[in-house]
Order: sequence, then C-alpha cells, then structure tokens
Amino acid sequence: MGTRTPPIRISPSLLSADFARLGEDVRRAEDAGCDWLHVDVMDGHFVPNLTIGAPVVAALKRVARVPLDVHVMISEPVRYAPDFQRAGAHVLTFHYEVTGPEHTAAAIARLKELGIPKVGIAINPDAPVEPLEPFLADLDLVLVMSVFAGFGGQKFLPDVLEKVRWLRRTGFDRDVQMDGGINRETLPLCVEAGANVLVSGSALFGAPELAAEIRHYRELAQMAGGNIRS
Ligand code: DX5
Ligand code: ZN
Repeated sequence: MGTRTPPIRISPSLLSADFARLGEDVRRAEDAGCDWLHVDVMDGHFVPNLTIGAPVVAALKRVARVPLDVHVMISEPVRYAPDFQRAGAHVLTFHYEVTGPEHTAAAIARLKELGIPKVGIAINPDAPVEPLEPFLADLDLVLVMSVFAGFGGQKFLPDVLEKVRWLRRTGFDRDVQMDGGINRETLPLCVEAGANVLVSGSALFGAPELAAEIRHYRELAQMAGGNIRS
C-alpha cells in the first residue's frame, strides 16, 4: 500500500467519551495525539438511537484543534447538512442506505456546494460496495462500517474487509475509513486491507492510557504497511 494510500489518521469516537465532560475529553484525545475527532450523530430514525446534533458539533468546534469528522446516521442528511457545515464539520459522512442510487449524486453535489471540505459516504456491513462505483470520483472518503451503525462497543465484522480491498483495487486513492470494533487486534487487519482512517471508541476511551494507546495504534498501523508520514 505505502505511498499511494493517504496518511494514517486515528479518529477517536466521542460516542465513548464522557458526555458531561466533552470538552475535557476532546483536549485529552488531542493531547494524546489523535488526528481527527469522530462525532456520531444519530436521529433515532435511521438508527434506533439518539445522540447529538449540530449545536453540540458547534460547541465542540469551539474547543477542538483537530478536524471534526462528523458521521451522520440520519434519514435526512441533505436537509441538515447546512447546520453541520455552519457548525464546522471538516468531514461530513452520510449513509448510502439513505440516498440510494437515485439521490446520491445530488447529495454529494449539495454538500460540496455548501463548502464542506470532505464529503464521505458510509455503508453498513450488509451493503455491497460495488454500487458506489459511479460516485467514487466525487467522494473524498468512503466509510466501510465494521459494525452496524447505531451503537458503540460492538464486535468487529471481518467480512467487510473485502470491501476495503475492492475500493483500493478499483484505484480509489482517497480516504478509506473503518468504524466499529476497532482495537489492537482488528486495527492491523483494517490497515492491511487498505484503510487509512481508523475510528475507535470504546477501545480507546476504555484504555488505561489514551496517549499510549494511540501511539500503539500508530505503531501497529505502520507495521501493517500504513503510511504514517505525509
Ligand atoms: C457506531 C458508531 C461508531 C462507534 C464506534 O454506530 O458509528 O463510531 O462509536 O465505537 P466502537 O469503537 O466502540 O465500536
Ligand atoms: Zn461513527
């Protein structure tokens, strides 16, 4: 993989942070050396869980020094995209299950028109990756979910790794993100397959020492052939 794959980025999922001390956990994750901060937005409709919305993203943006990587698990991503753009999302990733073959191109175009720096699309573990092919040229990031969207702390589903390999085989050279069940054991598999943005919630925030854990993730990523330089 090496030089053609974009740099490794560790994106701790704030879903596993202490919601009563979000600002402190942001600082803790940044001091520990994270690259991005992953923010999980859930609407209780597309997924059976409710988390946070754009006002919390805006509040995080006021304290964060690293880019906010916003993953929206919501039924109407285009409707709420202006709110997330204003809130300061650097990455905005919505689910292909919501927009389908008919509405995906328009959704990507709208998000770009809003000026969102990176537009991403996510697919759940039971969704094939091939239908994304017509959109790849316009996407900055593809998120291959390694658990079903909705909750932190689920077990990694290794079958999805083939989708990451497929993306790299087809020549997709932008960010490939994986999210769900990523820990010391599963992270090397993700990087070997070609993923470069690694989201991790419960394993990172549950570690005895966040900085040591992120350092360890980076070493594992490097050993697995990830690009940790540029
Ligand atoms: C799940 C979320 C994930 C979640 C990952 O719907 O998209 O970002 O926080 O958490 P862990 O790392 O605990 O599986
Ligand atoms: Zn997520």
